[in-house]
Amino acid sequence: MAAKEQETCGETADQFAMKLHGHVMSSYITIGIAFGDRLGLFELMATFDGSKTAGEIATAAKLKGRYVQEWLGLMVIADIIDADDKGTAFFLPLHRRKNLTAEGGVGNIGIPAAGIPTFMKGFEYVINAAKEAGPNGFPQGATADVFWPWMDSFTEALMPSAALFSSIVPLIPDFKMNMESGASFLSIGCGSGIDSVNFGEAFPNSTIIGVDHGALGIQKALCRKQGSDKNLTNVNFEIHDATKLPSDWSIGLIMPHPCIVSMIWGALIWKPGGYYLMIEFTAATNVNGNKGRILMEFLYGVSLLHCIPTALSQREDGVGLGACCGQETMRKMLKDAGFESVEVKPVEGFDYLVGILGKK
Ligand SMILES: C[S@@+](CC[C@H](N)C(=O)[O-])C[C@H]1O[C@@H](n2cnc3c(N)ncnc32)[C@H](O)[C@@H]1O
Repeated sequence: MAAKEQETCGETADQFAMKLHGHVMSSYITIGIAFGDRLGLFELMATFDGSKTAGEIATAAKLKGRYVQEWLGLMVIADIIDADDKGTAFFLPLHRRKNLTAEGGVGNIGIPAAGIPTFMKGFEYVINAAKEAGPNGFPQGATADVFWPWMDSFTEALMPSAALFSSIVPLIPDFKMNMESGASFLSIGCGSGIDSVNFGEAFPNSTIIGVDHGALGIQKALCRKQGSDKNLTNVNFEIHDATKLPSDWSIGLIMPHPCIVSMIWGALIWKPGGYYLMIEFTAATNVNGNKGRILMEFLYGVSLLHCIPTALSQREDGVGLGACCGQETMRKMLKDAGFESVEVKPVEGFDYLVGILGKK
């Protein structure tokens, strides 16, 4: 940065050092939040009416006391859990419980916190992939064992099943009517099939296809279908790379999922008059527009550690748009792909999501 810019940015070196210190120190607190989330410690402590010792908490959680004691220390210095004056009895105050337990839904910070250890499993792969001489990325399968459990909890919190019907369905004109009478719906990047199964159950006259290139996701999706109490003969899951879908498919409604934007093209299989709805995170293409926007630290982090490397590992010529490529880029992509109209629509009740609807 030029000396002149230093003068004008209104920040001293000490202020910057403090800010940086805060960023790094809070990442250790996040590790503690992930630990408590993963081991059910917040859920457990939210059931207590009064303070408990570390030993009592450990016994109730079926964990080793020494680990619980150390975790409590981290949570106390972070002002997440309160300790008594002697530092031997611990309590999770009532007003903090919602943000640390399933009761809080999308406000449960445990889910983004759990993303840190989940995505750090790919850290060394990403470091190698970033090097000029390194591989393009790493396959999703490399971290699938930790990715899928996290992804499922994230999807359920981010877009609960009920919201699929109240907030997503209205974005496509006549969606409900068409699906009730019988349409073809393709979920690209269906993962473990949450939306496909929901739509299959709600719209028995329609054909639902869920595709994902990840075998583990499809395996989970098939189990979800079997677990339904409806006989879902109208729902199929197939392993496909979205860029190489069968050219004889003719689909009326297509919904690709967050992160899939990194590699959508090639899926030129929609019916004339059909709709293509991208549900993406609200982000600006110009990074400056993302400063101060909700969830952005999380999205850039996940994109760096997962979306970009898993997308680029699939195609040497892939651009790896990432989770924060922004709606301006997505609009342009749909326009360039020949959509007659492209509209950006807010997703009601979910400020951090946006729907980009293309009509063929
Ligand atoms: C953000 S996840 C969404 C998963 C799922 N829809 C959900 O909500 O739980 C993106 C999904 O896109 C899939 N995906 C990424 N690239 C793909 C490609 N080229 N072809 C098919 N699926 C792909 C990933 O395997 C992953 O399941």
